[in-house]
Amino acid sequence: MRSVIDIVDLSVEEIEALCKKAIDISENPEKYSEACKGKKLATLFYEPSTRTRLSFTAAMMELGGNVLGFAGASNSSAAKGESFADTAKTVSCYADIIAMRTTQEGAALVASRAGAIPVINAGDGRHCHPTQTMADLLTIYKEKGGFDNLTVGFCGDLKLGRTVHSLLAALSRYKNIKVVLISPKELKLPDYVKEDILEPNHMEYVETTSLEEAMPSLDVLYMTRIQRERFDDLAEYERLKDNYILTVDKLAAAKKDMIIMHPLPRVNEISVKVDDDPRACYFKQCLNGKYMRMALILMLLDIAKKNPVKEDVFAGKGYIHSEHKCNNPKCVSAGEQELEPLYKKIDDEGHMRCVYCDIGEPSK
Ligand code: NCD
Repeated sequence: MRSVIDIVDLSVEEIEALCKKAIDISENPEKYSEACKGKKLATLFYEPSTRTRLSFTAAMMELGGNVLGFAGASNSSAAKGESFADTAKTVSCYADIIAMRTTQEGAALVASRAGAIPVINAGDGRHCHPTQTMADLLTIYKEKGGFDNLTVGFCGDLKLGRTVHSLLAALSRYKNIKVVLISPKELKLPDYVKEDILEPNHMEYVETTSLEEAMPSLDVLYMTRIQRERFDDLAEYERLKDNYILTVDKLAAAKKDMIIMHPLPRVNEISVKVDDDPRACYFKQCLNGKYMRMALILMLLDIAKKNPVKEDVFAGKGYIHSEHKCNNPKCVSAGEQELEPLYKKIDDEGHMRCVYCDIGEPSK
């Protein structure tokens, strides 16, 4: 049995196979219309969502399966203080597969280890969002014919936007990718993402505050929303929110075949007038997301059927036990009962990173 918590839980070969499967599903929907008959997907959404939850729901319905779940923590026993581990054990009694979204970083990993069914991370705080990345990858695959030799600009909130972190992790495995990181200095890509993803994979990157300067070099422009809900200081959000607005005028400097992506929701980052530009791909991403989620549900249920035994994803990793809690207050370990602090070494100087959230370090 397998779960998908991080996009790199899927190999490059599996991503390619999932893209091909998603395209086949989109072209031959009737072939798959009973593929999940009798199966149930539980959507456990503790955080707001439109696309992700509804596309998971539509995906399971179009596979002939059923969907149960909740939208909003206040509607679940989380409001009474139930742990993610206990929720996952409970839902394993009712469903065959879980898609879950949380504010706490690392919650899907905890659920996948506790429950008896596959878990798909549908977004955990500012950490990861692997199925949005799958939607992004299918869009790039269809529009650009593959993933090598691309210059990709990420613009907006690179600090708190999980879709950026997951897409960078996915792209780090392809050849000759150049990354242009466009953000205000307050919202730069965090050091842990550079240290864990860009640098070990020798990804070429530059940082800039100017979208206009970056524009002519880009094959892909990935716009993002400033993540209001993750700001501690709303005055700072107000100051930064309209820093980048993509307009028809600004696009004049872009390549004729550059594609414009955005995980959505957009707040103000892309003028509605840009929607008519043939390079605008953000609503195609929504549709691609549904087909990729269908392909992923099929793949994980098939693996679970052939091998119902859960893999211990921590086995053989040499993780380090510590009595010091993770210093990231949004880490799942801060609230989960009796969760043992575990760390991985990230360099030879003794630095460690939390296994659950990938963000925090042992507090001293
Ligand atoms: C993204 C998310 O939830 O991280 N939305 C989505 O799933 N399509 C992006 C965002 O909320 O800004």
